[in-house]
Amino acid sequence: MTPDRWAIITGASSGIGKALAFEFASGGFNLLLTARNEVALSEVAAECAAKHGIRTEVIPADLSNRDSLDRLVADILAKAHPYEVLVNNAGFGIHGDFASGDVERNIGLVNVQIIAAMKLTRAVVPSMIARGSGRILNVASVYSFSPVPHQSIYAACKAFLLSFSSSLQDELRGTGVRVIVFCPGVTRTEFRSRAGIAEKIKNSGMTAEAAARIAYTETLRGKHIVVPGFLNRVYVFFAQHLPPGFVPGIVRFINRQRLRHS
Ligand SMILES: NC(=O)c1ccc[n+]([C@@H]2O[C@H](COP(=O)([O-])OP(=O)(O)OC[C@H]3O[C@@H](n4cnc5c(N)ncnc54)[C@H](OP(=O)(O)O)[C@@H]3O)[C@@H](O)[C@H]2O)c1
Repeated sequence: MTPDRWAIITGASSGIGKALAFEFASGGFNLLLTARNEVALSEVAAECAAKHGIRTEVIPADLSNRDSLDRLVADILAKAHPYEVLVNNAGFGIHGDFASGDVERNIGLVNVQIIAAMKLTRAVVPSMIARGSGRILNVASVYSFSPVPHQSIYAACKAFLLSFSSSLQDELRGTGVRVIVFCPGVTRTEFRSRAGIAEKIKNSGMTAEAAARIAYTETLRGKHIVVPGFLNRVYVFFAQHLPPGFVPGIVRFINRQRLRHS
């Protein structure tokens, strides 16, 4: 009999999260999907169920809102499924100057990227430890590895996810629970248009499906830090090995060009 295994995926209504839903469904995982867009979520859930014969549940939630997040956490705990995987994927970008930016929007970003990941992880990790198996997949970014002028809070959130994931992975040693931090670069999703990032080359970067395939495979393998694609690994290498201001200086230049054209 197929084991009753559940994967929770945040931000499953589009992009990488949606592609991850199909990957986990193909692996026989039942899915608990969340995001704000209930219609899109329900379509993803129905398609995954029809294609792979798995069970699905949809819980709409706005993770930028603390009450909505707390209701989601309570619902997840009340259902008490055997959660084998938690994917903290939901996110959005803010592109511009911090000094003139909307601080409430930045706080919303911190809620989605950091507070939600922290609360959801804290909710499910005890039962994973008790069962002796589980995977926490945190979707970070190549920007986890360097400051990013004009995307300051976004990059800081991604750096938090990398540091938190590595500390937690160490704390969970020997429990059977692994923490994976997935660090994509440019990926072809709605992310950049939503963040108002002007792109000269329309089809640059990896597809969401290719990124999700790598994230899924490495999550099951239990690899800790996953940077998909050669160019993204080059970026990370430079961020780690060149003098501290070098890579942020290049990104500052690129982001200023983009701001001029947006
Ligand atoms: N695309 C890239 O180039 C790139 C590069 C590096 C890292 N990433 C990371 O990859 C992850 C997925 O992004 P993506 O590229 O797939 O972009 P996307 O297509 O825009 O998907 C973002 C997902 O997050 C959800 N979301 C956004 N705000 C939310 C909120 N307030 N509450 C709940 N859910 C929310 C969205 O759903 P709703 O709108 O329905 O709520 C959507 O499902 C993000 O963490 C992003 O930072 C992306």
